[in-house]
Amino acid sequence: MADTRPIGVFDSGIGGLTVLREIWKVLPNESTIYFGDNSRAPYGNKASSTVIRYSLQNMEFLKSRDVKMIVIACNTASAYAYEALKDRANVPVVEVVTPGAEVAIRATKNGKIGIIGTKATISTGVYKKAVEQSALKHGIKNIEIFQNTCPLFVSLAEEGWWDNEVTRLTAKEYLTPLKEAGIDTLVMACTHYPLLAKVIGEIMGEGITLVNTGEAAASVVKSVLEENDIAATGTDEPKKEFFTSDDTAMFESIATPFLGEGLPSGTQKFITDVYKVEI
Ligand code: DGL
Repeated sequence: MADTRPIGVFDSGIGGLTVLREIWKVLPNESTIYFGDNSRAPYGNKASSTVIRYSLQNMEFLKSRDVKMIVIACNTASAYAYEALKDRANVPVVEVVTPGAEVAIRATKNGKIGIIGTKATISTGVYKKAVEQSALKHGIKNIEIFQNTCPLFVSLAEEGWWDNEVTRLTAKEYLTPLKEAGIDTLVMACTHYPLLAKVIGEIMGEGITLVNTGEAAASVVKSVLEENDIAATGTDEPKKEFFTSDDTAMFESIATPFLGEGLPSGTQKFITDVYKVEI
């Protein structure tokens, strides 16, 4: 039976839109509710307990809207809070780390994989572990992993500076060590980074595969819906709802050039710290 309840997607801000867009591509019948916690972004330089609390609050909000699944469209929140959310969600929870690692292992030819993310994501080591586990699963040996944090990328993405000289210089600084290490695959382990993919691709040069963790996660969302028999197969026009914890006009002005088709529209404001959660 068709389950027309929406899929709930959250991120610290606009980065999760890179995941949402991929979900729309592979699941055009699904309604979605997106929550961007812009007022508390960035998450990437916060303590794990803070990110877990924020993520639980965001989850409570999405659950209050009767979602059938929760997608953690943020690598930082996936790295810190997936276990806590999974245990309390009562609906399937999809994170973005494992799918991204899988794609990287399938893409690499020379076994040299770069991972860029927020300080939080990189310092947990979850990505490195996920890539190593995926290599083991596929019987691939001699994997070398090179990591770097790119904290300024988040602000540049939120600012809408997706293709600009400041971004180019910043990217050169962050990415040159990875390029010199000879990687052939680069995981953009932060959902904000695909917004800067043009500049990142230019700096890395031809022949380097950029892994978009949102694209990887969207196919997992599809399989989890099918496995749980909760996909929307109906012909009704799916609803696309947006919430932010900050200024709605600002959210829309940054997100619109990326999502296109006059989206997002009708964005509402909601502050999720009204939910008291126990960590
Ligand atoms: N987009 C988020 C991620 O994937 C984090 C950005 C931030 O809030 O620091 O890690």
